[in-house]
Order: sequence, then structure tokens, then C-alpha cells
Amino acid sequence: AQLHSLAVAAGKLYFGSATDNGEITDTAYRAILDNADEFGQITPGNGQKWQFTEPTQGQFSYTSGDAIAALAKENNQLLRCHTLVWHSQLPSWVSGGSWTEAELTSIIETHISNVVGHYKGACYSWDVVNEALNEDGTLRDSIFSKVLGSSFIGIAFHAAGQADPDALLYYNDYNLEWTGSKSKAVINTVIPAIKAAGAEIDGVGCQAHLIVGSVPSRADLAATLKSYIDAGAREVAYTELDIRFSSLPPTDDGLKTQGDAYADVVGACLDVEECVGITIWDYTDKYSWIPSVFPGSGAALLYDENLEKKPAWTSVSSILAAA
Ligand code: G3I
Repeated sequence: AQLHSLAVAAGKLYFGSATDNGEITDTAYRAILDNADEFGQITPGNGQKWQFTEPTQGQFSYTSGDAIAALAKENNQLLRCHTLVWHSQLPSWVSGGSWTEAELTSIIETHISNVVGHYKGACYSWDVVNEALNEDGTLRDSIFSKVLGSSFIGIAFHAAGQADPDALLYYNDYNLEWTGSKSKAVINTVIPAIKAAGAEIDGVGCQAHLIVGSVPSRADLAATLKSYIDAGAREVAYTELDIRFSSLPPTDDGLKTQGDAYADVVGACLDVEECVGITIWDYTDKYSWIPSVFPGSGAALLYDENLEKKPAWTSVSSILAAA
């Protein structure tokens, strides 16, 4: 059986993958991506980001995002929409402006009402705010935090909720998979900032860009997921899972360790009722973001560069089948 079907049989909503505009013309790649029994959910890796959707103030462009949304629709796959307010891949007209609070608030609201409005009805969820925190739990320096402090978070969630009341609204970040300063800040800063704005947060997305050899235990991962539910989120998900090697090529033992780590992450989601699903950050090493950002690292996904299943695929499939 295939991963999404197994995840659904185990009580989850989906097992999915990110994809991107540059690779959707690769027919061998598409043959696997388009199989909704394998991947029942898709996230656009780039096309809905601010730099693509509003490259110039007030001029909206949906070509890239629409191509992925259409693919998901055609394949009968859920769409996780990604992402609205992020310090990265932000056009310079936003990041370089000298805005008053009122101006930047209006810029955020206009961006969100247009983009979320365009995709209204198509998104299972939106990653409304992405990566707003530093590792020590303080607010990351960005044009948003500089001008608005933590209030930009609530402003964004409020606007997203207005524009599509049916999309679930997520805070999404990395290194939230274990309990520490950053995860505590989600609980003590991010969730309260949203509630203080009179808005709702539906979900916390743990990106889960992990490293073979440093993945927490299944029990610790599950306990951290649960901590977000206890803090007032309604659901959680692993939104960008990959588990990379820091040196290449992997040994056979290494591939087995990677498989065990994948099983722990997927197992943690199985252990927490409110964990709705798992998205891998593309399914094949052929199209992973990792080698370009961490040269010498990689081999992080379930399929290798030749689109062959790796031991980690078998490991994920077994843990889902056992649930
Ligand atoms: O579109 C241009 C293309 O025209 C140009 O020829 C090419 C040459 O470099 O670059 C293309 O843009 C690249 C874009 O991906 C689309 O492929 C950017 O350089 C590259 O920086 C960008 O990387 C993306 C990265 O976010 C940017 O921060 C990755 O694909 C994407 O997987 C990655 O995803 C992020 C999540 O959104 C948030 N969490 C972390 C995750 C991994 O970094």
C-alpha cells in the first residue's frame, strides 16, 4: 500500500509532499507525485510566496501558485498553502521601505486579503506566519518585527481569517520539534499575540528539517506536539519534513538510521490524535533544497535522485501500516 492510503487508514488526514514549478514538467517525477494514494496532499515550495504573488506593490501574480493548485485539484490532493508573512523571499519594496505602523499594517492586510482571497476555498490550511522566532525564543529581526513588534502576527492571522474563514490558520517554523526556548516562545509569545488580536490560531506547523543522528525520540517528539495543543492550538502537523545526512554519500547503516528517524517522526504524529498529517519537503533527493543551502549535505528524502524508494520509504510505510 502507499503512504497516503496507509496514513488515512491509521486515522490521519494526509501524507503529502511539497513540489515546485520548475520540476512539474518532469514526467517520471510526476508519475509518482500525481498518485494520490502515495501523496494525498501537496504544498507549493515557492509559488505562493510574497516575492512571486506581489512582486510590486498592488500588482498580484498567481501564475506559479495556480499551477500547483491546479495540479493538486486535478489529482484530488489537499493543498496546504504556503506562506503569507515571512522575512525571506520578501520583495525589496516591502523589506526596504521605511513604513509607519499604519502603513505596514495596511500592506500586510492588503497582501493577505488578495492572496488568500484568490485561493479561497482551495486551501486546507495557510501557513500565515512563517519563521518569526529566533532560536532563543525572541522575535526574529525583520521589517515586520522592527515596525510592528509582535503585533504583526495577530494582524496577519486576523486578515487571513477574514479572507477565508474555512482555511485553517497555521504558525509554521523550524526547530519546533523538541521542547526548548523556541517551542516555548510559540506557547508564550506567538499564540498569545494572536489571541490578543482577537484572532484564532488553528495549527502549529513543525517544519521538521532534521539531521540524521540528532532526531529526538518518538516520545519527546510526541510530547512537544502535544504541548501546542495544550497551549490552545487545535491541531499540529509536520509540514516540511526531511532528514539530511551531513556527509555524503550515506552508508547502508546510515540509511537504516535515517529510516528509524523517519519512523520516529511519523510515529510521533501517530501518537498525537491532533496531529493531522505529515508533508515531506519534496519527495525525492533529485529536487531537495538542501544541497544548495548546505553544500555536502543531503540525501534527506524518501526517494533517491533516480526516483527509487530508499530504506526510509519502507520504514515510513511499515510504521504507518502497524498503526
Ligand atoms: O526562480 C528562480 C529562477 O528563476 C533562477 O533561475 C534560480 C537560480 O538560482 O533561482 C530560482 O529561485 C530559487 C527558488 O527557490 C525557486 O527554485 C531561489 O534561488 C531559491 O533560493 C529558492 O529556494 C527556496 C527556499 O525556500 C528559499 O528560502 C526553496 O526552493 C524552498 O524549498 C525553500 O523552502 C523553505 C520553506 O519555504 C520555509 N521553510 C524552510 C524551507 C527550506 O529552506
